[in-house]
Amino acid sequence: MASIVIRNTGERIEGQENVGEFLTNQGVLYEHWDVTKLPLALQGNCKIGEVEKQQILSVFKEEIESLGERNGYQNWDVVALSEETPNLEELLKKFEQVHVHTEDEVRAITAGHGIFVIKGSEGLGYFDVELEPGDVISVPVDTPHFFTLMEDKQVVAVRLFIDATGWVAHPIQDPQFETSK
Ligand SMILES: [Fe+2]
Repeated sequence: MASIVIRNTGERIEGQENVGEFLTNQGVLYEHWDVTKLPLALQGNCKIGEVEKQQILSVFKEEIESLGERNGYQNWDVVALSEETPNLEELLKKFEQVHVHTEDEVRAITAGHGIFVIKGSEGLGYFDVELEPGDVISVPVDTPHFFTLMEDKQVVAVRLFIDATGWVAHPIQDPQFETSK
């Protein structure tokens, strides 16, 4: 279950209902998938190849199609990051830059962990969304954010998108983020 940390105050928000309410108020979609539907060998396993990625897409076919129908996402795939990923540390450094996209950024975590750092409404500043397996989040179009890993340094996530060009990250310099670190 996801939890939130408000960077300016250090306040932590926990519990499905509180987290859901906070994210809805920020325009961020938040849902939960049942990861126990995955075969045991895939639960918590981030060191996977193409065959396992296809397996994940078929296990969550219904959930994916439902999200797609509701929000216009037409394509999806699975990304896996772990100590087996070449140049993981360099990749993470590249990730950790505030940017925006021309479409929503949707991630359903099926194993491991991740954090979305997102710019909140006026006056709130940036907040961290710490994601666990089963958490599904959609960062709205044009919302400054970045995604990175947590202490376990591994994740498997389903990504949904409308068009691949919407994925291009447009970096922004935000003084408000620099003061919230
Ligand atoms: Fe992004």
